[in-house]
Amino acid sequence: MGCFFCSGGYSSAKRSPQNKRKNNTKNNQSHPSPDNSNLNPSSELKKDNPKESNQSSVANENDDKIKSPNNKESNKTKARKFTFAQLVTATNNFKAANFLGEGGFGKVYKGKLEDTHEIVAIKRLDLDGSQGIREFVVEVLTLSMANHPNLVKLIGYCAEAEQRLLVYEYMPLGSLEDHLHGVRVNRKPLDWNARMKIAAGAARGLEYLHDRMNPPVIYRDLKCSNILLNEEYHAKLSDFGLAKVGPLGDKTHVSTRVMGTYGYCAPDYALTGQLTFKSDIYSFGVLLLELITGRRPIDNTKPTSEQNLVTWARPLFKERKKFSRMVDPMLEGKYPVRGLYQALAIAAMCLQEQPNMRPLVADVVTALNYLATQKYDPLIHPVQRSRYWSNLDQDGVVSP
Ligand SMILES: Nc1ncnc2c1ncn2[C@@H]1O[C@H](COP(=O)(O)OP(=O)(O)OP(=O)(O)O)[C@@H](O)[C@H]1O
Ligand SMILES: [Mg+2]
Repeated sequence: MGCFFCSGGYSSAKRSPQNKRKNNTKNNQSHPSPDNSNLNPSSELKKDNPKESNQSSVANENDDKIKSPNNKESNKTKARKFTFAQLVTATNNFKAANFLGEGGFGKVYKGKLEDTHEIVAIKRLDLDGSQGIREFVVEVLTLSMANHPNLVKLIGYCAEAEQRLLVYEYMPLGSLEDHLHGVRVNRKPLDWNARMKIAAGAARGLEYLHDRMNPPVIYRDLKCSNILLNEEYHAKLSDFGLAKVGPLGDKTHVSTRVMGTYGYCAPDYALTGQLTFKSDIYSFGVLLLELITGRRPIDNTKPTSEQNLVTWARPLFKERKKFSRMVDPMLEGKYPVRGLYQALAIAAMCLQEQPNMRPLVADVVTALNYLATQKYDPLIHPVQRSRYWSNLDQDGVVSP
């Protein structure tokens, strides 16, 4: 697929208590260098990145113009401004015991707000790290305008001297990546129903960004580590530092440097730098395939022909008899055959080479909402056997 500038995929190591080999971080070089430390996120943004594109990042040049779909909602969701001292208290001075994980922006800690007693996740900008002021500002402005059950809620932020911190609602089940690829100590693998519920939730979050925000937003960073999970596997999209305002008026795309994560990046965007809503749809297709197969988008530990998930899957999409070989062995055959066919069909549509052949997010949502209701029921659906993991079946699918 060759997303040249798409960021480092699974190459550089990150630390996470749940998953010590967690390692998909963004590329340092692909991010604009931080601006100086103006404490007002909006004014920082106006100065930011004059070269990057003919359109703006979500906040860039739009900080005054952007409106929430509903102004009352926007007032309700306005982010709080915290002092650094308040967040030191909330995290017990960023105590190691409160450490939740680490990404390109910096370390994430669990905390408790002293005044409201709310449990929160606090992300602290690593001043030596790969991301910076720009991502901070875009994140604050995007999430301050947004209000949807499938987007993580930004409670507030701190911009004091050089410190930059983001305060989010705490998501008790961590990221999808932890569940799909993390070390599974005392944790059972995600079952089929949870996977489809997560896919439907992520699609609804994307639909809100594409179709309901004003102006519409291209997420650009859809991947399993950015999907956070609440109780009952309710999925919320997080990390909006790369979000861009979508093409406006007659324009079909936004020209921008290629950013995102290797393995999730649409080939057309990687080649041309032309970002469209369909770039997100491609990333969604990768995510859905990841949920079905349990495979990482790029996995250098696999044989060469299987290292790139999409390249491996493309020929298999055409052979119904081989569909069962694509299913995550961790599911142990516990999935509805029709549901698998439908899920693979949706993934294949999202992963079309031609962006205009990919479905609109609203169609993806309709399909996945339906799929999420077609639950696997062990009393109705027999356990499927596959040669891939049991040697019992030459051709894959065993009919119910
Ligand atoms: N709101 C939250 N609630 C609970 N845990 C969180 C929350 N936000 C982040 N985390 C934890 O912190 C980890 C790091 O998140 P972060 O978004 O900083 O990095 P990432 O998504 O893994 O990488 P990247 O920098 O590429 O986005 C997550 O995997 C998750 O376990
Ligand atoms: Mg993230």
